[in-house]
Amino acid sequence: MPADRTTKLVTAHFGNPDASTLVGYERLGGYQRLRKALGMKPDAITAEVKASNLRGRGGAGFATGMKWSFVPKDARTVHLVCNADESEPGTCKDREMIFWDPHLLIEGMVISAYALRATHNYIYIRGEMMREVVVLQKAIDEAYQRGYLGPNILGSGFECHITVHRGAGAYICGEETALLNSLEGERGQPRLKPPFPAVKGLFGNPTIVNNVETLMNVPFIVDKGGAWFAELGVGRSGGTRTVCVSGHVNKPGVYELPMSITMRELVDDVAGGVWKGRKVKAVIPGGTSMPPLDESELDVLCEFDALMTDERIKPVEVLPGQLFDMGGGRNLRTMAGSGGVVVMDDHTDIPMAVWRIMKFYAHESCGQCTPCREGTGWLEKVARRVAHGEGKPGDIDLMATIAHGIAGNTICALGEAAAWPMMGFITKFRADFLAKIKGAAA
Ligand SMILES: Cc1cc2nc3c(=O)[nH]c(=O)nc-3n(C[C@H](O)[C@H](O)[C@H](O)COP(=O)(O)O)c2cc1C
Ligand code: SF4
Repeated sequence: MPADRTTKLVTAHFGNPDASTLVGYERLGGYQRLRKALGMKPDAITAEVKASNLRGRGGAGFATGMKWSFVPKDARTVHLVCNADESEPGTCKDREMIFWDPHLLIEGMVISAYALRATHNYIYIRGEMMREVVVLQKAIDEAYQRGYLGPNILGSGFECHITVHRGAGAYICGEETALLNSLEGERGQPRLKPPFPAVKGLFGNPTIVNNVETLMNVPFIVDKGGAWFAELGVGRSGGTRTVCVSGHVNKPGVYELPMSITMRELVDDVAGGVWKGRKVKAVIPGGTSMPPLDESELDVLCEFDALMTDERIKPVEVLPGQLFDMGGGRNLRTMAGSGGVVVMDDHTDIPMAVWRIMKFYAHESCGQCTPCREGTGWLEKVARRVAHGEGKPGDIDLMATIAHGIAGNTICALGEAAAWPMMGFITKFRADFLAKIKGAAA
């Protein structure tokens, strides 16, 4: 049955402090899915995850089961790494999930590790999440004491360890290969791909990196089956979606919702509408690295494929009339990204907001490749002068040209994270930029 607004999986225990203790979690049925999983063949679990249409909740929406199947069958040592770095502006779901339901993450990780035959596994958590680290470490200690982690889990012969590693505040360390470098004690800079981590990752071994929410969905798939999970969702996206709504709404928060909800319902209904009786100007659908939607585009579903392909969303232009080509004949519209929905009302100074976004990415660029290092710096400089009413005629096209020079030409997607919102805002809110530039022609 498709999910409705009452369907709660990964947020079911929000607000229940009992769930974060081992005893409380067990009372709620916790770790029963692990018992079931240990009675299954590892490949059968991967098959269920594939059938479930679970897609990664970390940003790219990649099919989880397919990613798992890239691990070479004859690999001697495999690692599973949970990405809890959560630094994309506007995103705060993983933090809440770890805080309220740490054992669900552990259960999801042990089941996934069993499917991948991964013994030594890691949770890379954003360093600033002090409160969550304490909760998580306590839960891990409890799980070791009760035999849910350790050398012989529940007498199955399967050995599984989880080490929590705290980051040191760099956004780039959420990018999976920078994260692996950081875990190894190296500088947190992305690696060239291929090889992809599933083939050569942590310490040179095949490694699966998955987001917190992705892994927390796995126990439900084992419990009720891949087909059940697929049916909850829409099309090729199984399950529910958790979004973090911030900005100019009456009820900001973390919400788990059916994939079939529209962006308009999310803003007007779930998030209580735009504050102060104002209207929507723009909505960023998946963290600030994604192109925005304007008011006329809010009837699209909050689902992975819809946000990429729905023709009601205008394609992003490089320069007026010239669409941004993502390869394979596809144009960039937007993406579900990390689930960070940022709502901007009709009083928002769009060039100022864009400058703030550019400042973030310029600051966080690791500096390894020239288009990103130089390009994000220039985007920030030009956006700053435009935002402050000191722009020159031609600055809009200059920003678009710089953004175009970055996208697709860098080692990791931080380049696109700066370029895409710039191109998207210019495409949809050109008039706002023009109004700030004296002497600019429309
Ligand atoms: C600059 C950058 C930052 C990222 N930050 C995060 C993050 O904080 N958390 C996350 O789960 N994924 C992040 N990602 C995506 C990861 O590289 C990776 O795709 C993801 O962890 C895979 O998990 P999933 O398949 O479960 O989505 C980031 C990617 C980039 C390019
Ligand atoms: S795109 Fe930017 S952040 Fe990514 S590797 Fe290159 S310089 Fe570093």
